[in-house]
Amino acid sequence: MNQQAKSLTERWSMQIRDDPLTSLKYDAPPAWGVTDPDAGQLAWMIRGYWISQIVGTLARLGIADRLAGGPVAAAEIATSIGCDPDATYRLLRASRAVGLVATTSDGRFALAPLGEKLRSGVPGSMRDSAIASTAPGHWLPWGRLSHAVRDGRCQTREALGAGLFQYYSDHPAEGQAFTGAMSISSAKVADEIAMILDTSGAERVVDVGGASGTLISALLLRNPSLEGAILERPDVVPHARAAIAERGLSSRCRVVSGDFFESVPEADIHILKYIIHDWDDEQSVLILSNCARALQPNGRVVLVEVAIPEDHRPSWASLMDLNMLAVLPGRERTVREYRDLLGRASLRLDRITPTASGFDLIEASAAESLKPETR
Ligand SMILES: C[S@@+](CC[C@H](N)C(=O)[O-])C[C@H]1O[C@@H](n2cnc3c(N)ncnc32)[C@H](O)[C@@H]1O
Repeated sequence: MNQQAKSLTERWSMQIRDDPLTSLKYDAPPAWGVTDPDAGQLAWMIRGYWISQIVGTLARLGIADRLAGGPVAAAEIATSIGCDPDATYRLLRASRAVGLVATTSDGRFALAPLGEKLRSGVPGSMRDSAIASTAPGHWLPWGRLSHAVRDGRCQTREALGAGLFQYYSDHPAEGQAFTGAMSISSAKVADEIAMILDTSGAERVVDVGGASGTLISALLLRNPSLEGAILERPDVVPHARAAIAERGLSSRCRVVSGDFFESVPEADIHILKYIIHDWDDEQSVLILSNCARALQPNGRVVLVEVAIPEDHRPSWASLMDLNMLAVLPGRERTVREYRDLLGRASLRLDRITPTASGFDLIEASAAESLKPETR
């Protein structure tokens, strides 16, 4: 074995951890920095898509769920999910190499702690996120990132033949995974927002593009006198209704099928989480203007977004911004850009509250020209 191959083997085997509780062996995701750490890191970045697809496939084929009850042989899993036994074994072997599954001494596979979150129905499950991020809706437009940069516009029409949300409505299983992924990501911030947002004086809140209503549910549960509504696309409405019913909130929360480019229901508070970042400036002004028009006296429009820093500080938002470039007409914006957009919709930015989860709560109210006495 040459020196480079030897140190690669040593490096990988050093990553193997023995878990004394389960006597399973699993690998921490290794670094490929053998002789040149930069080349190693770059190799991970270049082949990152291999790993994305491994994660997505474990989730999509339900393999993580099959492993929930303890170690299983690859052949048994393959039979239960109708897959090729050799290919299933190879997928699981590679999954072990990146720390998602573990092996027993008799060669069966079990979930490693990382892989547990790919199960459905576990707290904080990332199964839907893994599926949606590696399915055509996101995957194909991202494959055209160079075109997006060259042309300065999103690639969904070229890659999918439609805009993202139309594509999801035409491919309901994938659309449902996206809605599920949004719900889990909102759960991380919903309670915090419900705690921070002052709803005193408000009777009705509308979650504009509220997906399955994770955010509005947290607001309603914390504020028992509030009534709510979710405005969503027709294909999302049944999922939103089911989720609201499951939380016991159907009597306090309507789910309205509609299009926020046309109109939004009247409310004291319109809350829009990760909505404006999906759209270009003209589209955003249209949505915000519809909110402004449907705002009750002294009402507020609340955006939940991650404002991108004005300087070049590294920020997660700059990666999300590229996601917007590839898959939607939107972009991440600075505080100044949000203020300008709101202004163009006759709204005035009143306050920004950063949250521990990284989102910013951007609160706005009707600018003077839209106040009730002058409307
Ligand atoms: C990025 S997701 C955000 C979902 C949710 N606010 C959250 O953060 O969890 C955007 C949402 O807007 C909805 N949407 C897209 N176009 C819409 C339209 N024209 N009218 C109403 N809802 C729309 C989508 O169905 C999707 O649920």
